[in-house]
Amino acid sequence: MNILLAGGLGYIGSHIAVSLLENGHDVIIADDLSNSKIEVVDSIKKITNKEFKFYNADLKYIEKVEKIFAENKIDGVIHLAGYKAVGESCQQPLMYYENNLITTINLLKCMRKYGVDLILFSSSATVYKASNTMPLTEADELGPCNPYGRTKYFIEEMLKDEVASGSNIRAIILRYFNPIGAHESGLLGDDPNGIPNNLLPYISRVVTGKLEVLSVFGNDYPTPDGTGVRDYIHVVDLADAHLKAIDYMQKNKDIKIDFFNIGTGKGYSVLNIVDAYNKVCGGKVKYKIVARRSGDVAELYANPAKANKILNWHAKYDIEEMCASSYNYENKKDAK
Ligand code: UD1
Repeated sequence: MNILLAGGLGYIGSHIAVSLLENGHDVIIADDLSNSKIEVVDSIKKITNKEFKFYNADLKYIEKVEKIFAENKIDGVIHLAGYKAVGESCQQPLMYYENNLITTINLLKCMRKYGVDLILFSSSATVYKASNTMPLTEADELGPCNPYGRTKYFIEEMLKDEVASGSNIRAIILRYFNPIGAHESGLLGDDPNGIPNNLLPYISRVVTGKLEVLSVFGNDYPTPDGTGVRDYIHVVDLADAHLKAIDYMQKNKDIKIDFFNIGTGKGYSVLNIVDAYNKVCGGKVKYKIVARRSGDVAELYANPAKANKILNWHAKYDIEEMCASSYNYENKKDAK
């Protein structure tokens, strides 16, 4: 298929691009480079030895989206174009609503106009209500608690309405848990601008001497060791879930919309991650315990049974392999 990857140069999108190209699909990448780097185009080409078209385009502007649809024969869209920092979304909610929602509306309008019927949307575990018991199933109650999460939730609702309207659009919503790790080549990985908010890029910068010490946000949660528990998933496994979702939609033309948790089903605490990372880097993770970070929950992990069964998707990598790939990426980046 010819897939438009909206937001395709980012951490997750770039790994999906590799998986698609390696599995016989063609891709067109659109990205505004607001949280990604142009060098990623070459990294994807180097890994796959394949060519693809890249548009440096801000998809908030309908004419930019229109141009991409007019110039290409697109069979499906994977939509990852969105801002994703929770803290920033609380300070600048309108910027988040404007960017994440308008981009989606523009993509859907062009899909309708050009007769493109398939969209995979990158949603998040953050759409679930914090009071649900773990592990989370797709039937659990929704209720995000910050503007970023609400943009994901509203987009899910928008997709439901669009599908229900009788248009030809068919949608798959993948709710990601905590993607970490990097491509085995060390050419693609999570490389946020400035000081990382997320755990893994922060640890990677501590072990390579760019940051001094990891602050562990709270050790008084009701979890086995008191630190927060998450469902970390290798970004390459996450990318594979997209391939499986495309297969599923191609084989089941009667499916109009479906939702899947994409996680491993296993919860690891912050200190479990520190231990796993220490094993691969020789004990270099310095950390200190500090106060809880506001907005964090004690635990969040998936019941991935639905994706395992219906998509025939299974996460393959364990936590040490995830940490080892992050470490490899950080070292390769430094060596450039
Ligand atoms: C965050 C977002 C979430 C988003 C996800 C993936 C928040 C509140 N949530 O999830 O919406 O979908 O990233 O991008 O930001 N931790 C530390 N020290 C650090 C960083 C993190 O102890 O320096 C802890 C956190 O308290 C948490 C765990 O590590 O227990 C994971 O944190 P993080 O990587 O930021 O992911 P989430 O907060 O789960």
